[in-house]
Amino acid sequence: MLKSNQSEIEMAFRQRFHKSAQHYERASQVFPNGVTHDSRYLEPFPIYAAEASGSRKTSVEGHSIIDYWVGHGALLLGHGFPSVVRAVQQQMALGTHYSACHELEIEWGHRVQKMIPSAERVRFTNSGTEATLMAVRVARIVSGREKVVKFVGHFHGWHDSLVLAAYGPYNTADWSMPGVTAGVQDDLVVIEPNNLDLVEKAFRESQPACCIIEGTGGHWGLVPVQGAFLKGLRELCTKYGVILIFDEVISGFRVHPGGSQAHYGVTPDMTTLAKILAGGLPGGALVGRADLLEAIAFGNRYGKKMKHPGTYNGNPLSAAAGCAALDAIADGKPCQRANELARDLRGRLNQLFAQRNALWVAYGEFSMIHILPNFDGPRPTSDEFIPCEGDYRKLDAEQPAALKHAFRAALLINGVDWFGWSGMTSAAHTSEDIDQTVRAFDQALALLGV
Ligand SMILES: Cc1ncc(COP(=O)(O)O)c(C=O)c1O
Repeated sequence: MLKSNQSEIEMAFRQRFHKSAQHYERASQVFPNGVTHDSRYLEPFPIYAAEASGSRKTSVEGHSIIDYWVGHGALLLGHGFPSVVRAVQQQMALGTHYSACHELEIEWGHRVQKMIPSAERVRFTNSGTEATLMAVRVARIVSGREKVVKFVGHFHGWHDSLVLAAYGPYNTADWSMPGVTAGVQDDLVVIEPNNLDLVEKAFRESQPACCIIEGTGGHWGLVPVQGAFLKGLRELCTKYGVILIFDEVISGFRVHPGGSQAHYGVTPDMTTLAKILAGGLPGGALVGRADLLEAIAFGNRYGKKMKHPGTYNGNPLSAAAGCAALDAIADGKPCQRANELARDLRGRLNQLFAQRNALWVAYGEFSMIHILPNFDGPRPTSDEFIPCEGDYRKLDAEQPAALKHAFRAALLINGVDWFGWSGMTSAAHTSEDIDQTVRAFDQALALLGV
């Protein structure tokens, strides 16, 4: 891309989102970088949303934008799904925090037990980060071991024990991260994804407490994981007494009502959930084998309890939204609908890239779409295509920052909000949205000079 394309995009972006620019000026006096989540940072500035409905959000300028962030993955049903809105409004009038147990948390937990195969017991948290933090601590209490095995490029939230090796550039000699101690790093064993020999070696050498994996592969399938790998991992965990944790914060209720574990028929010992779980409100959960979650109980068989307070655990509003959302998802139709739309979009984007002779490729599984720019391999002939033979160093390579910002800005100018290089569909997206998105990509590529 030429520099002149960049300045043309920036000018058009500034014109179209002039009010957002003003908001951003104020925000920059309040928040570092003017944002409240790293992913929302965009140059020259992020757009500001005023409202959202279905598959779209409306910017403060009044522009309707097709949304492929869908609540960072939380909104499989789309924005403002009627039964979720109703449930939250009704609960709001009844109380937002009882500082007491309440019936709705039991209802919510029951639904999770029914839908997620590994969920013998459930404990609610406030986020996915809290759920994975809890999973690791429970595994250590139960096993009496300390090490944790995770895979390069798998994201499990931002707490110290698992944030290492979640982001590139991947340098196997050094997984350190600013602010995380060497001691914490020593407790983590990081291995390349999709290699069972490496898993077995790590289990033999480090005797870990647990092994955690994103159910559809690192960064929600940017580097896809195969069902056969999950099955092999399950066998190795059983053989070496390692607690297997599926992080289904994104894949749970999205790829299948029972998550990737139901889709692949592989049951982990524990599972972390969030996002769709709480219907678009804050919430998470650790679920799993009853004997393992007993580590959270008073007077448990381990003689050691994992402390678990948390002001908003099992919050009534999140419970109301979660119950309504899970009821709407239970029959699997929203998952199927979102999957079909994403498959259609992946195929049509690849046709577009071929027509334009652009060295780009779209790929992914389920309702997730990943774009790889600067790809000079063969063009896909089916939706199962995985570029670069699944090499995580290439699929998860850091793209030039200028291209990343210009790409997102060019799409926004054309009415599409894309989640970095990836996007997710919801069941509320329509085939007209897909048509419009393909046109937006065409125009964005033209703007980028690709
Ligand atoms: C797989 C996975 N695990 C954990 C998390 C952390 O969840 P939260 O943002 O709710 O803390 C995320 C967030 O995107 C995620 O994608």
